[in-house]
Amino acid sequence: MIIIMNNLTKIKKLKILFVAAEAAPFIKVGGLGEVMRSLPRAMKELGHDARLFIPKYAKIEADKFPMELEIGELDIAPNEKDPHGLLVSNVLKHLDKESGITAYFLENMEYYEKRANTYSYGDDTIRWVLLSKGALEFIRRSDWKPDVIIASDWQTGFIPNLIKTEFKDDPVLSKIATIFVIHNLKFQGMFDPHFVPELEADSGQGPIPDFNDPHILKLNGARRGILYADIINTVSPTYAKEILTPEFGEKLEEILREKRDALFGTLNGIDNEGFNPETDPDIPAHYSRSALAGRYHNKVALQKSFGLPEDDKIFVMGFVNRLTEQKGVDLLQEIAPSLFDNLDFQLVIVGTGDTKYRTAFKELQEKYPARVAVHPFFDEKLPKLVFSGADAVLIPSRFEPSGLVQMEAMRYGAIPIVRKTGGLADTVTDYYPGIDHGTGFVFEKYNSYAFLIAIVRAWQAYRNKKEWSSLIKRVMSQDFSWKKSAKDYVKLCHSAINKHQSSISGE
Ligand code: GLC
Repeated sequence: MIIIMNNLTKIKKLKILFVAAEAAPFIKVGGLGEVMRSLPRAMKELGHDARLFIPKYAKIEADKFPMELEIGELDIAPNEKDPHGLLVSNVLKHLDKESGITAYFLENMEYYEKRANTYSYGDDTIRWVLLSKGALEFIRRSDWKPDVIIASDWQTGFIPNLIKTEFKDDPVLSKIATIFVIHNLKFQGMFDPHFVPELEADSGQGPIPDFNDPHILKLNGARRGILYADIINTVSPTYAKEILTPEFGEKLEEILREKRDALFGTLNGIDNEGFNPETDPDIPAHYSRSALAGRYHNKVALQKSFGLPEDDKIFVMGFVNRLTEQKGVDLLQEIAPSLFDNLDFQLVIVGTGDTKYRTAFKELQEKYPARVAVHPFFDEKLPKLVFSGADAVLIPSRFEPSGLVQMEAMRYGAIPIVRKTGGLADTVTDYYPGIDHGTGFVFEKYNSYAFLIAIVRAWQAYRNKKEWSSLIKRVMSQDFSWKKSAKDYVKLCHSAINKHQSSISGE
């Protein structure tokens, strides 16, 4: 279908299916879930028919998201191989009235419904091959056929793989172009890519084993996605370059270099409506860049809700992220004692993650109860309270494909202190005193001294009230909406379609 835009240019209305292991508001573990909420909406706003396909986990609240049966009993594996009916799957549909986005859910009792968590089961690869095959089988049976599938991370890397191999002669599926999006290359399968014996490594060339064949658990979904997709995208321009090097390539740098002309880096965006300090129902006081008073009120509300002494003058820093190695928590852990001994500030930490870090921060809280508060659980709303009340947020990541926290924090005027890597390097420029320059405090080397120096610089800058508030205003004026990136995704869809067509016509 062709749609006519205001300026009378004609665009082809694309049919796009996003397939992923998580998508907010239905289910969200991390940044991927947030992107799956906002990117399809942004593409829809550009006039395209973007839809979603995710598993129907038990955690998804059925009363909040009413669903109806779309297609019953998908034929995912021949019955004799599935005598216990473990693979019996249906597709349900939910229409989000506000955005107009249709979401499809793959229903399967054994692999999704019975599991309390989204990830980390011993048979995860089976669960994701099921998702990938389920999406394709659904398309075969449905009247709605996408022009392009955007498959995110290793869990869906089997989709490009199946389209180019098992279904290469299928009259419907063989025509669909694919984009494989890398949100985090560290995750490739049920293993750490650095510790796979060479003999066991999945080259990505062989067929996908049957569901009941134990070899299925060794598959490398990321490698397969990269090998077979028409276009590969990752979530920031800097990460797209970094993953070509051994330091960030997670052992896939060579195949990425081979497919370099199909590799792109499109920066993630945020939903400016959902994250808006002028209207956000989840923060106590509203404010804008020309009327910042609400921030001080929110600082006190933040201290109150975390049980810290209430003081709207003290420097408050927040850490809102998964407590994992990727996020640079070890650096924070290392410098915390020197920081507390030498500077006056409060620290709030929000995030779930590795037990070793959770314990370390709990201990820190016990040692400095009036200065540190930890909320070691996932929370939808609390991060916004932190962004709206804290003066700075800490993001010392070891690597960061895109990072959404710095963009969300900046929208609320919390100044990011970041390591110069991946999407952080693409979104934050270093502050320079006196010349109205910079949107945060940036350090390069991954070590605790470098991080400490950046924090001290921020703490010092905070003491100059005039400069600090002009820094807040500058930071709040940055535009991280999806507008530009969504258009770039549309271009990627067209390139994928063109590339796919020439590959099937043998050009
Ligand atoms: C992953 C990455 C993060 C990125 C997110 C969404 O969680 O670690 O950097 O922002 O995916 O793309």
